[in-house]
Amino acid sequence: MTQKMKPATLCVQAGWTPKNGESRVLPIIQSTTFKYDNTEEMADLFDLKKEGYFYTRLQNPTNDAVAAKIAALEGGVGAMLTSSGQAANFYAIFNICQAGDHFVTSNEIYGGTYNLFGVTLKKLGIECTFISQEASEEEIDAAFRPNTKALFGETISNPGGQILDIEKFARIAHKHGVPLIIDNTFPTPINCRPFEWGADIVTHSTTKYMDGHATQVGGCVVDSGNFDWDAHADKFPGLCTPDESYHGLTYTKKFGKMAYMTKLVAQLMRDLGSIPSPHNAFLLNLGLETLHLRMQRHCENAQRVAEFLEKDDRVAWVHYSGLPSDKNYSLAKKYLPNGSCGVIAFGLKGDRQTAIQFMDALKMIAIVTHVADARTCVLHPASHTHRQLSDEQLREAGVAPDLIRLSVGIEDCEDILADIRQALNTIK
Ligand SMILES: Cc1ncc(COP(=O)(O)O)c(C=O)c1O
Repeated sequence: MTQKMKPATLCVQAGWTPKNGESRVLPIIQSTTFKYDNTEEMADLFDLKKEGYFYTRLQNPTNDAVAAKIAALEGGVGAMLTSSGQAANFYAIFNICQAGDHFVTSNEIYGGTYNLFGVTLKKLGIECTFISQEASEEEIDAAFRPNTKALFGETISNPGGQILDIEKFARIAHKHGVPLIIDNTFPTPINCRPFEWGADIVTHSTTKYMDGHATQVGGCVVDSGNFDWDAHADKFPGLCTPDESYHGLTYTKKFGKMAYMTKLVAQLMRDLGSIPSPHNAFLLNLGLETLHLRMQRHCENAQRVAEFLEKDDRVAWVHYSGLPSDKNYSLAKKYLPNGSCGVIAFGLKGDRQTAIQFMDALKMIAIVTHVADARTCVLHPASHTHRQLSDEQLREAGVAPDLIRLSVGIEDCEDILADIRQALNTIK
């Protein structure tokens, strides 16, 4: 029933529906374990013959209610929460790739994901090819190999703010018989639902807008249920052939559209762990209840701030897809008609030092290693996350030395603008 509701209603109502006399608010089931009356009932759960809770590393009612809300918002068949966004992207790939496999990914992705894919997965024997998302279809086709198992991209890249042409990416992935996995962290399902454009699996760092208050680190993997694994059974033996660790059960045969999700929980979460605490899931749910209101305000404020910065002659450049001058403007109109997110990238005239001087002069806007928060915050990658790199190395890594990442919050925009104005006035 919740699937038919509008996104704003799902934010508030989906996931937890109390029965008569039950708690109105999602309860925190802070228990590692669940009690059964006889041995056979518990044995059936272990054999995946029945659904039920037995140990929180695999499933927990609070976590599941929040995952169900996110699945409803994205329009998926199921979702699983993880303890971080990093874990979500790792699980999404590792559920269908093993040593000897390969996948293709846009190079316009969050630095942590870039490192996970290019360094850590490589150590596990899984290789990837980074491609420019602006490359032609033929150029991207050329990156595929017989052992390629997925295509990956971010709807809006962090920190560059590039917008992915999801339909183009879905077409390429499906031509090669593999799913398209999209990290939809920045727009959230309020501003873009990648399944509607052909994506198969969506991931989130719920640490960002979904929480929105910087209170928990978390992630989520959502499956559309649309990818036909059996049609490409040779590529996905983990889903389409018997799992010896579950008495020879075959996920696609037993679970149909829930095959990918069931394997994710029953095999990967069982073996690798990385669940969020139920208390964190509860905090995430509070954030989700206002996500629709906050995203609208983030976008309105960011649009005004971007327009202000673009007009100021101390500013060298501004990247925000809501500006008609931005190269992503037409992609944003197509995929994000109601707004993109609150994150702006800009540079000041001058050098690295000018950026530092501006940031140090800010009074309300805080310097933090975070983004997508209710409070406006700012980061200078050249001085923080990438501080060991020279200007030349920074450019090679796709981060301009003068790039300031401004995450516009939901305060009164006049106060945000006043702080930026006074900080700009301190620059000589
Ligand atoms: C787009 C994107 N994906 C994934 C992550 C990783 O998420 P987490 O920090 O929750 O592990 C981040 C973190 O900034 C991100 O921006």
